Amino acid sequence: MPLTAPAHAVHLRVLHLEDSELDHELMLAHLRAGGLEVDSRRVESEGGFRQALAEPWDVIVSDYNLPGFSGLKALEILRDQHSLLVPFILVSGEIGEQVAVQAMLNGANDYLLKDKLARLVPAVLHAIEGSEALRAKHEADLALGQSEQRLRELAQHLQASVEAERTAIAREIHDDVGGSLTALKFDLAWIERHCGNAAVAQRAQNAIETVMLAIESSQRIMHNLRPAILEQGLLAALQWMTQRFEKRSNVVTLLRTSHDTLPTLPAGVPLAAYRTAQEALTNISKHANATRVEVDLTIARGVLSLEVSDNGRGLSQDDLGKARSFGIRGLRERAAQVGGWVDLSSGPGGTTIILSVPLGTERSKSGRATQPDTGHHDSDDPTSWDML
Ligand SMILES: Nc1ncnc2c1ncn2[C@@H]1O[C@H](COP(=O)(O)OP(=O)(O)O)[C@@H](O)[C@H]1O
Ligand SMILES: [Mg+2]
Repeated sequence: MPLTAPAHAVHLRVLHLEDSELDHELMLAHLRAGGLEVDSRRVESEGGFRQALAEPWDVIVSDYNLPGFSGLKALEILRDQHSLLVPFILVSGEIGEQVAVQAMLNGANDYLLKDKLARLVPAVLHAIEGSEALRAKHEADLALGQSEQRLRELAQHLQASVEAERTAIAREIHDDVGGSLTALKFDLAWIERHCGNAAVAQRAQNAIETVMLAIESSQRIMHNLRPAILEQGLLAALQWMTQRFEKRSNVVTLLRTSHDTLPTLPAGVPLAAYRTAQEALTNISKHANATRVEVDLTIARGVLSLEVSDNGRGLSQDDLGKARSFGIRGLRERAAQVGGWVDLSSGPGGTTIILSVPLGTERSKSGRATQPDTGHHDSDDPTSWDML
């Protein structure tokens, strides 16, 4: 597409690498005749060129042959040391095809013959337009990268906040609701024993049963908020979870591990593994239509891996892209928080999700820093979950 000079005056800073003052004047005349306002400097040596590069230029026009220097060398210096974005146009008395190709490969925007300088203005405008588009793309890529990074940090922060909030609610239920219900149960039992009236005693007994149900419910709610079973170790918690899943879903569920006991895991890792298994099993009951599930827990060569596979219908890339599905995305963030990652594979034979966490790395050791420190560390207290 031929470019013409824009209607409004364009002001350009042009660095001209040229040993002939006459050719320089000729170039300026062409640019001005093409409607461009030009601030220009002529340099002819490597030193002068390097020095001039400290200043901002809209375009560099360079002769091919210079005494003791060359246009291709200048291009190399520019691309090596300076912005990739300053347009560079090579001009020569005679230019072989090979040289022209080499110049374009090295990042020149265009090349011209000295006797065809009529093409100079369109070439300059085109080169500037191209490098502005490139600059805009670079900036957009940079902004996108930064925004993705912020989003990742936000997601991790949200995970940590949700976990902290759950801990706080569970603790309140335990301390306030649990405490009051237990006191109520004792008082009702006292009334039942001392009232001396069969009808009142019966009422008190009914009330005790209701209170017991409320205690059970609050324990269930607390457990869902924060798995206290994890205090007995990840293995025990997974055993409990898989057995309960099998009973509730009627899907054959096997837990396999070659370990009788696990080494002490870095803070945050048991909970990440627990939540991964929990989400994987929930997904299986919601989506997979499976008849068999295997959960494998291994620690080998310093890496913990938890694998949950089912023989269900499998999932597609589209499933993972669902706008309102955050389960698996959340697991990836959670894994990253303890220095690990999640792999997912799926086919007609079913779906496998694997959590891998290198143990003993600085990140997983410092996982605790992501947990809120509540200053509540009584190990006999089932609510001291921040130690998990
Ligand atoms: N084990 C599985 N078998 C088949 N499909 C699955 C399985 N796990 C997840 N999916 C699919 O992947 C989607 C995304 O899962 P997830 O991120 O956990 O979100 P959600 O469960 O809230 O939909 C699900 O909606 C489902 O279509
Ligand atoms: Mg899910």
